[in-house]
Amino acid sequence: MNAGVIGIGRYLPEKIITNLDLEKRMDTSDEWIRTRTGIEERRIATDDVDTSDMAFEAATKAIENAGITAEDLDLILVATVTPDQPFPSVSCMIQEKLGAKRAAAMDVSAACAGFMYGMITAKQFIENNAYKHILIVGVEKLSKITNWEDRNTAVLFGDAAGAVVMGPVSEGKGILSFELGSDGSGGGHLYQNENDHIYMNGREVFKFAVRQMGESSESVIEKAGLKKEDVDFLIPHQANIRIMESARQRLDLPIEKMSKTVHKYGNTSAASIPISLVEDIEEGRVKDNDVLVMVGFGGGLTWGAICMRWGR
Ligand code: ACO
Repeated sequence: MNAGVIGIGRYLPEKIITNLDLEKRMDTSDEWIRTRTGIEERRIATDDVDTSDMAFEAATKAIENAGITAEDLDLILVATVTPDQPFPSVSCMIQEKLGAKRAAAMDVSAACAGFMYGMITAKQFIENNAYKHILIVGVEKLSKITNWEDRNTAVLFGDAAGAVVMGPVSEGKGILSFELGSDGSGGGHLYQNENDHIYMNGREVFKFAVRQMGESSESVIEKAGLKKEDVDFLIPHQANIRIMESARQRLDLPIEKMSKTVHKYGNTSAASIPISLVEDIEEGRVKDNDVLVMVGFGGGLTWGAICMRWGR
């Protein structure tokens, strides 16, 4: 029994904040942000839209796209570090809203790697035949923990939600291999501080990310029994174009074989991989039978990667 993705969906807030908007608010420039990060604009949710609202929108689309109903769901996993409140979890909130009466529900806390943790957790339940349909949502409203006075972090983040439904897929398809890891000794490089704002030591996170994205990508390719040249498409966590580029070059992939949404949406943490996946599917860059590598890293420190063959 192989576990794969059978439905996808996403939600992006309508409100766009450009680098030029940020120039007016703080001592920064469009040129600095674009050359250091690749980000041009980001989406920000309005005050009346919280994390669970965005999660619900993305989840509804993924369930419909999978051709199932909410009552078919056995488990809901929501990856987020910006829940509406510590409890009840976002997963319980959307369970009720979706009408997923049979589903167990819990949130996953692994920062930007949270969606990889969610998918790999779901894979275990599906492959040991315990559950058939699992909804995984990556969602963040980072704008509510962003210090809009701190140019070091305020320019980087955005709000969004992405979701997949996972279930059994035909032989040879679905998740072929994975890697998960964490290093709590690096927790001080990226955390929510006493003012509830994001603190980040950008240089340390950058060094860790460049090393980890490359190593984890190579590791899942090898575990799948494949070679770099077998990879059709790379979906890296969209934190910074320079970090993404280092992973792409390590896999010797041409530029058109890497997902890129960071310029439009910024770093949306746990949502970045699924919102990019949806765009790559909808715009035809990822096709049936393609070998995909997804790789993420985040606060914790945490990381995770998946090698999968796309399709049901
Ligand atoms: N506008 C203008 N100048 C700025 C800005 C800004 N928005 N932000 C920082 N600077 C300044 C700094 O103050 C510094 O000035 P100084 O030299 O006078 O002290 C200068 O720019 C250079 O700073 P660096 O840290 O050298 O810049 P760098 O090239 O490393 O880029 C960045 C900074 C973009 C933050 C980079 O380090 C990075 O991307 N790090 C990884 C971030 C990341 O991926 N985070 C993931 C978060 S995941 C999660 O779990 C939420």
